[in-house]
Amino acid sequence: MRLLIPVVVLLILSVAAPPVAAWRPWPHLFPNTSVSSPTAPNPKPDLAASKKYEGSSEFVHLRYHMGPVLTANITVHPIWYGTWSPSQKHVIRAFIRSISPTRPSSVPHPSVSAWWRTVRLYTDQTGSNITAIVRLGAEKNDRFYSHGEQLTRFSVQSIIRTAVTARTRPLPVNPRGGFYLLLTSSDVGMDDFCGNVCGFHYFTFPSVVGYTLPYAWVGNSGGRCAEVCAYPFAIPSYVPGRRPERAPNGDVGVDGMVSVIGHELAEMASNPLINAWYAGGDPSFPTEIADLCEGIYGTGGGGAYTGQLLVDGRSGGSYNLNGVRGTKFLVQWIWNPYLNYCNGPNALDL
Ligand SMILES: *[C@@H]1O[C@H](CO)[C@@H](O)[C@H](O)[C@H]1NC(C)=O
Ligand SMILES: *[C@@H]1O[C@H](CO)[C@@H](O)[C@H](O)[C@H]1NC(C)=O
Ligand SMILES: *[C@@H]1O[C@H](CO)[C@@H](O)[C@H](O)[C@H]1NC(C)=O
Repeated sequence: MRLLIPVVVLLILSVAAPPVAAWRPWPHLFPNTSVSSPTAPNPKPDLAASKKYEGSSEFVHLRYHMGPVLTANITVHPIWYGTWSPSQKHVIRAFIRSISPTRPSSVPHPSVSAWWRTVRLYTDQTGSNITAIVRLGAEKNDRFYSHGEQLTRFSVQSIIRTAVTARTRPLPVNPRGGFYLLLTSSDVGMDDFCGNVCGFHYFTFPSVVGYTLPYAWVGNSGGRCAEVCAYPFAIPSYVPGRRPERAPNGDVGVDGMVSVIGHELAEMASNPLINAWYAGGDPSFPTEIADLCEGIYGTGGGGAYTGQLLVDGRSGGSYNLNGVRGTKFLVQWIWNPYLNYCNGPNALDL
């Protein structure tokens, strides 16, 4: 009988586990604030009201809808659209190369590959896990803006078709593990960019591209809306009281893209055809395993607070994951289906 008391206490603690509070400072969450009218009375935005999933994980019903997940080795094919510097490409390539486990383990804890372990917890109906292997494959440059500087969601498929049918060095067509990652430079616009999206993933239609290929788009928000899409490396004026974190690779737009790329990769792997893992009843607006944790990078994260981060003593950059060859990244956490909350390898034991 005496033993009962500590057991009850433990149970209460685990039920009160970290709440879900995915967040990004979308302008529409602050409708009474206008950057152009700084004299308007401070609307004191209710940060709690912007939480997508208020309260606790009890409200999250992540379900498996019987479709495939990416169990085959993944090969990422970046399409560099617009103007990219070698150092920008270097950061994004290093992140992709850091996802597969290194042998022997040469990357210090907490590593990018340990972060991907949460993604690997998701299985298909045969019980096969998402692959541990994510490779950087052939790349394509689209440096002359083949579809202009203002893209639509639909033009992404045309750009991919251009890349896989190019006369010189076309990207390989790999419907089994290929992942086509369209990356646009900061001078390129996209439908809903900055207002509602920083990236998205979907799959190509055979009628347009000739194949069903999972793809994602992620834009460089630097100089455009870094305070939204590269938050917390830039902070909007309507989020008072927070200082920007220093970007670990010294490029606010690209360091912000890394987390969005991680977000889209995790969701593509667990929901490539939008019929596998997501919450919510409407497959047109699925809430996927990374949506649930947007803006959460460490223990205690939620609302405008990122959670506990690490700081690189050399550069002063904030990060939460180590990558290959001494690289560092800040990448959002992923929903863990067993813990029923967001988690990452830099979590502090509470
Ligand atoms: C925002 O503006 C609307 C319409 O003017 C008003 O009804 C609402 O109370 C305002 N909200 C806040 C938080 O000030
Ligand atoms: C997947 O990657 C692993 C590790 O590199 C390799 O041993 C295996 O042969 C690959 N499988 C396929 C089907 O390419
Ligand atoms: C595979 O998924 C199962 C079910 O989620 C999990 O228990 C197991 O740890 C996963 N294996 C790996 C290698 O991640």
